[in-house]
Amino acid sequence: MDSRISARALSVSLGGWRTRNPTYEALADGIRLLCLDNRLAAHTALPAERELAAALSLSRATVAAAYRSLRASGHIESLRGSGSVTLPQPPRGTSRIFDGGAGIDLQQASPAAWPGLAGVISDVAADAASLVGRPGFDIVGSLDLRVALADRYTARGLPTDPDEILVTNGAQHAIHLVTTALLTPRSTALLETPTYPHAAEAVRSTGARPTGIPVTTDAGWDLDRAVQAFRRARPALAYLMPWFQNPTGRSMTPGDAVTMRAAAERADATLVIDETTADLSFSGAAPHELDFGPSAVRIGSLGKSVWGGLRVGWVRADRNLVRRLVELRPRRDLGTPELEQAIAARLVRMLPLIQPQRAELLRSGHDATVSALAEAFPSWRVPSVDGGLCLWVGLDAPLSGSLVLAARRRGVLLSSGPRFGLDGGYDGYLRIPFTAPPEEIRRAVSVLAALWPDVVAGSGAATADEREATAAIV
Ligand SMILES: Cc1ncc(COP(=O)(O)O)c(C=O)c1O
Repeated sequence: MDSRISARALSVSLGGWRTRNPTYEALADGIRLLCLDNRLAAHTALPAERELAAALSLSRATVAAAYRSLRASGHIESLRGSGSVTLPQPPRGTSRIFDGGAGIDLQQASPAAWPGLAGVISDVAADAASLVGRPGFDIVGSLDLRVALADRYTARGLPTDPDEILVTNGAQHAIHLVTTALLTPRSTALLETPTYPHAAEAVRSTGARPTGIPVTTDAGWDLDRAVQAFRRARPALAYLMPWFQNPTGRSMTPGDAVTMRAAAERADATLVIDETTADLSFSGAAPHELDFGPSAVRIGSLGKSVWGGLRVGWVRADRNLVRRLVELRPRRDLGTPELEQAIAARLVRMLPLIQPQRAELLRSGHDATVSALAEAFPSWRVPSVDGGLCLWVGLDAPLSGSLVLAARRRGVLLSSGPRFGLDGGYDGYLRIPFTAPPEEIRRAVSVLAALWPDVVAGSGAATADEREATAAIV
């Protein structure tokens, strides 16, 4: 068994779980959602029935019935003497849990590959003989790719030397390396809330405490709260997505960046700027420059701008930090494949050609999603964005989790709002990526439209009769 969650922590993570009757099924659904979203890791010991019942002001029989339902659906197992433990869920992309075979996966926001990619791969593969005569991987990154990346930063007005670049296996790898290098179990890290969930996981895996800077689709970054958080929490780092923030789609203004920079400098905190979504404007234009100062660490990737399957990302940082990251790396991996790096070096130089096509693809997915949502859900709040990967949609009832579970049974995989919060919350939000083909998006929205009235009708607290009925199940 790996870890245990207290009754109090579980009740916080569950948030607004009382979404349907009977109560024990609503509780089981809340825990199911935490397992599916990976907010409750596999092999986590759940609280004893009596403790959870006390924390949630329920009868022990209701919790026992919820655990029984979770055992029946394969989400937990209960072993005599060691309580109830969560079970691993099928990895994303392998679940065939649907009535009608293959489903629609809107959990990932991964655009299709840039159409010219296959040609670039063929060209590079034609030179394979020279590549396979070498070890084929390296821990810092090929000079050719680091020069291409450094030139791109320099052209943007951020003079960069190839020694200030580390090539990684995607941006998530970069986030993991940087957080591991900069955080200790005694540190605090500021993250936007809502945020990119895997960045929050990387922070938590260091033992550091994540603290939120609120961002909304309407008002952007709450700068007062941000300045306060830098002053009070004295964070070691702040992880920010200033362009087309995932999931809100907001971008910072130059003034926002100046405020963040000044607050970080006063607190002696490192700004970690994730640029993975920076090149995704619908206009095809390069991102507007934002001044985060010379000591900001920047993380990027070709995952969204060209293709997630390349697994090539990078860190731009001062030489000392690059050296520390290189030293950390061999514990987990021995380097990035040279074949992918050779492909990436060509692609980085072609980005000005690639961006307009990406813009077209994203805009058509966005338009299809917005019009399907407007027709099916006129009372949902669909934000206006001018780039990025997804819409952070405001529902007209705080039932994101129930809708996600119901949709899952009908073959549509989505991530619920609370997955993007640092401590749950956001039950009234759903992240809808517009990166799937428009036809799939329209089908998914029509499934949601068919389910929503039942999800809403199922909400409310248990009646007295149902409380008695569940109390009888022991
Ligand atoms: C903001 C952000 N950062 C990092 C990543 C991870 O990127 P990569 O696929 O390069 O690891 C993603 C992927 O969704 C993302 O949205």
